[in-house]
Amino acid sequence: MPYGPDLALVHDEGHADLARRAARFVARALRARGLRSGLVVDLGCGSGVAAEALTRAGYDVLGVDLSPAMLSIARRRAPRAAFRRGSAFRVAIPSCVAVTAMGEVLGYAFDRASGTKALARVFRRAREALDPRGLLVFDALSPDAVPDPPRRVWREGRGWGVGAVVSGDARGRAIVRRITTFRRVGGRWRRRAEIHRVLLHRPAMLVALLRRAGFAARTLAGYDRATRHPGAFVVVASPRGGRREPRAG
Ligand SMILES: C[S@@+](CC[C@H](N)C(=O)[O-])C[C@H]1O[C@@H](n2cnc3c(N)ncnc32)[C@H](O)[C@@H]1O
Repeated sequence: MPYGPDLALVHDEGHADLARRAARFVARALRARGLRSGLVVDLGCGSGVAAEALTRAGYDVLGVDLSPAMLSIARRRAPRAAFRRGSAFRVAIPSCVAVTAMGEVLGYAFDRASGTKALARVFRRAREALDPRGLLVFDALSPDAVPDPPRRVWREGRGWGVGAVVSGDARGRAIVRRITTFRRVGGRWRRRAEIHRVLLHRPAMLVALLRRAGFAARTLAGYDRATRHPGAFVVVASPRGGRREPRAG
């Protein structure tokens, strides 16, 4: 199971900044559209960092994630939010003011249903669930994110360390992160390994897919200056022409 207990803890303690900044961006964007309350559905909610910030900002939050370890941190961190275990590509999306997926969630290939068709399905579900003034906000990686040569990264905190080797896959369609965590448990260091594959998407392709699902979309270089990274981009999409009529049949 990806994002097992050790990587979940490392992510929560060492990588929470993006979710905090993204949540700030979403709350500001919703307020600018006159939406000061309502439900935000956070796909791939991880350890609930954005859920905590958004509930504090006055929104209800439903967080959905594949990882039980992430969800158990999220339930402690954001007690006012609701959480459900499931895949972003399969979950039913209730009526809401925003659908978010922060931290490359829609690129992860953990669910066999991931890929362009699955993305189109998520976009259609989000379109049907969203308030006419609502927003779909997510970030993704483009082919420019592939490091050449492969990049090695290391971070550490109190009682943990994490190393990763980041490279492109052979077909140039994904980034592969080979991640090793070290966590001190009962006076000894425990080592765990995970391999993550994140599919790469061209911004123009996503904008076209969103348009077909009934959205007007634009892309940004980041949620703010601090979240700009090579090959990373943010997509902000709003329903075109108000609520879509249910399809006949
Ligand atoms: C990089 S973390 C980001 C977590 C959180 N959004 C944040 O920004 O802190 C990616 C998260 O996406 C989740 N995830 C990946 N694929 C998923 C899927 N198909 N459905 C639901 N969650 C998924 C992982 O379990 C993990 O918690």
